[in-house]
Amino acid sequence: MSKTTFPENFMWGGATAANQCEGAWNIDGKGMTIEDCLPYREVGVADFTKQFAYSTEELEKALIAGPEENYPKRRGIDHYHHYKEDIRLFAEMGFKIYRMSICWSRIYTNPEDPTPNEKGIEFYENVFKELKKYDIEPLVTLSHYDPPIELITKYRGWYSREAIDLFDKYAKTCFERFGKYVKYWLTFNEVDAMLRHPVTSGGLIEDRFTDMPFEQAIYQAMHHQMIASAKAVKMCKEMYPEAQIGCMMTKLCFYPFTCKPEDNLATQQRMRSIYRYVDIQVFGEYPKYLLKEIENKNFVLHQEPEDEKILKEGTVDFVSFSYYMTSCMAADTTGLDMAPGNTVNGVKNPYLASSEWGWQTDPIGLRISLVDLYDRYRKPLFIVENGLGEKDVVSEDGKIHDDYRKEYLRDHVQAMSDAINEDGVELLGYTWWGCIDIISESTRQMSKRYGFIYVDVDDYGNGTYNRIKKDSFYYYKQVIESNGEKIEIR
Ligand code: BG6
Repeated sequence: MSKTTFPENFMWGGATAANQCEGAWNIDGKGMTIEDCLPYREVGVADFTKQFAYSTEELEKALIAGPEENYPKRRGIDHYHHYKEDIRLFAEMGFKIYRMSICWSRIYTNPEDPTPNEKGIEFYENVFKELKKYDIEPLVTLSHYDPPIELITKYRGWYSREAIDLFDKYAKTCFERFGKYVKYWLTFNEVDAMLRHPVTSGGLIEDRFTDMPFEQAIYQAMHHQMIASAKAVKMCKEMYPEAQIGCMMTKLCFYPFTCKPEDNLATQQRMRSIYRYVDIQVFGEYPKYLLKEIENKNFVLHQEPEDEKILKEGTVDFVSFSYYMTSCMAADTTGLDMAPGNTVNGVKNPYLASSEWGWQTDPIGLRISLVDLYDRYRKPLFIVENGLGEKDVVSEDGKIHDDYRKEYLRDHVQAMSDAINEDGVELLGYTWWGCIDIISESTRQMSKRYGFIYVDVDDYGNGTYNRIKKDSFYYYKQVIESNGEKIEIR
């Protein structure tokens, strides 16, 4: 293993999302989001498709559900009331940056409201002021999987072009009111994800699209998000020339299962399907292969005459991404073992170990991903999610001995350092996902924990909500303090 070194101003930190941590779903003028309407389901850890299957009937049930029903995102970890304590703990670890998201429905109770909800604005201002106290830079995602419920009930989520103007108004309010606190922005979390879980990314419920193939609706909704994102990028840069605004993708990484040309082709096609929307956000136009794909499916993509110009003018400053695991692709998967991953299933890689949720840990895959992205986009990169979800146990001594998390972190820090120093990748920073335990996105479990800070609450909302520092808390502190040089586990 080579010595690890990082640029002097490397931004170490952690990441969360409003819908997974804030709780306080119905107070201080917050409107409902789709995330508040996703029930807890005991369907087994591996099957993300069942977790994201959703119907209008379920939505209607959720809208009238009482407190006895288990909707985990409604409570999160009650960060809304604990933010000062949580930020103090982040500061103790030495965070330079904290990635968080703003909940659209806290800023506009209903997306069509003419004026914003001042209570919601006050909450985020307080968070930013608290971060400032400790010199922690915020990195803010405008939309992390929580379309407002009215966008879904009154419209058809992001399929409706009206979403663009509504988002534009929301983004403008965020820039106007928070621009003095925030230098780093992201528009949509995991912008490619709508193809895998359209309900949380786009507010698209399949049974509401009987008039067209559902996949066509997804492509259309994606187009609208691309336009909304480009408009937000342009607006941000006009208002704050110093600001940096990026895109955010799920950096899935597939290896060909064998050296058969067919497996290589399948891998290439799969990787393109991951890059296609980031290609738009970086290059300012649809890649030909995506247009071809839409044409080959006989789908019609409605575009307005001004869209081309909007995309051209709204290209991003940097490319950020999440990275957790890798798996393999085979042209024919018959008889092969499959492995679950971050809202994907791939062929199991016999050379990799898996987490308790079956995600295959692969630090070298991170290095490969960094190189691939840098070669493709030539933009500074930012790892805004990486981490390990496990079932932590509080030992008899009251502590959480999570050596597995330290090892995962160590190996990924090594991979980043190698990519920077040996492969010449430009990497701005690293924010560990779920730096404090939060509700899992794909399984809605609290028991799938990523944090350096344990939160005492279970899948059903029982617990004290007390925060406890895990062993990895001290390890990450050591890594940050030494700017990534001291990665040995003592
Ligand atoms: C990313 C999402 O894809 O993966 C996060 O942006 C999510 O919201 C994270 O929490 C980890 O996935 P999960 O399903 O383990 O929470």
